[in-house]
Amino acid sequence: MIEQQLWHPVIASHQVRSDPVACSLLEQPLVLWREHTHDGTRVHAWADRCPHRGARLSLGRVLIGLHGARLECPYHGWQFSADEGRCQHVPAAPEFVPPASHHASLFEVREQHGLVWVRLQTPPQAMAPDLGDPPAFAQSSDATWRTVLCGPYELNTSAPRLVENFLDLSHFGFVHEGWLGERGHAQVQTGVVEEGVGLVVRDARAWQPRAYAGVDGGAWIAYRYDVPHPFAAMLRKDATQGDPVSNAIALFIRPDGHEQCTAWFAMATQGDASSDQELIAFQDAVFAQDRPVVESQSPRALPVGRTAPISEVHGPADRVSSAYRRYLKRLGIALGTC
Ligand code: FES
Ligand code: FE
Repeated sequence: MIEQQLWHPVIASHQVRSDPVACSLLEQPLVLWREHTHDGTRVHAWADRCPHRGARLSLGRVLIGLHGARLECPYHGWQFSADEGRCQHVPAAPEFVPPASHHASLFEVREQHGLVWVRLQTPPQAMAPDLGDPPAFAQSSDATWRTVLCGPYELNTSAPRLVENFLDLSHFGFVHEGWLGERGHAQVQTGVVEEGVGLVVRDARAWQPRAYAGVDGGAWIAYRYDVPHPFAAMLRKDATQGDPVSNAIALFIRPDGHEQCTAWFAMATQGDASSDQELIAFQDAVFAQDRPVVESQSPRALPVGRTAPISEVHGPADRVSSAYRRYLKRLGIALGTC
């Protein structure tokens, strides 16, 4: 299943401290824990199951000693080393030297954009370059941009429905009336759509009465979208008439099943005087407008023409969403699609 071979965000980095925390990805229970090393910290993502008798390692604790960091199982106290998850100590039989087969199951893990990313399976062959790493979000590593993480937002819909909503300019005048759009200015320009490994949309335009947290006047806003991963998308918006504010938002989603997902937005701004709390409050308010509509869509899985007798009809302003559906179908994404 290709979904297992992709990087997915699982939890915000700041939620993983020294104590182990449980979470789950694609029905795989995970224990995440942070090791403090001489030059920083490192997060580990292991299967949340002790190889001895199956207890949840997330109920255990992290031990720091001369031997480095170890995760101790809550049941019989077996200790597993940070490096390879190998069992180093069995307290009930201290002379016993555990063989290499006594080890926890480890997954690949990275921290990026304020989130912990996990890949459950290493792909058997090289993935398309854009899928071999967690998606890049240029603004989050550029010191001239300020980034804040919004979320998590837990949703009763599929990850693809949410990505499609993010790419859709033509709902602004209705769902976000007075904020991101106006009924009287509902016409949009869908821009130029490039379909390659992922999707790029240049020069899409919409009228926005209040395009940013700190801006009151209306403006035509040019949007650029990037979809480098089936469950991640970024937009960059610049006012077309010399507004000093630039704004970029990345949507990162953890698919929790066919009809559930958890989303975060990384918001990056240049020139916006709003505080972090104001930016988060703005994003929370905008998302609260999307939620009831997106959760109302039926079916919750996105019809991409994979199995469904269910069809949806399209208008000329839906070119980007049609391209996104083709992209998912091309990749063979079954999770959250029909
Ligand atoms: Fe983990 Fe026994 S179940 S030490
Ligand atoms: Fe919206």
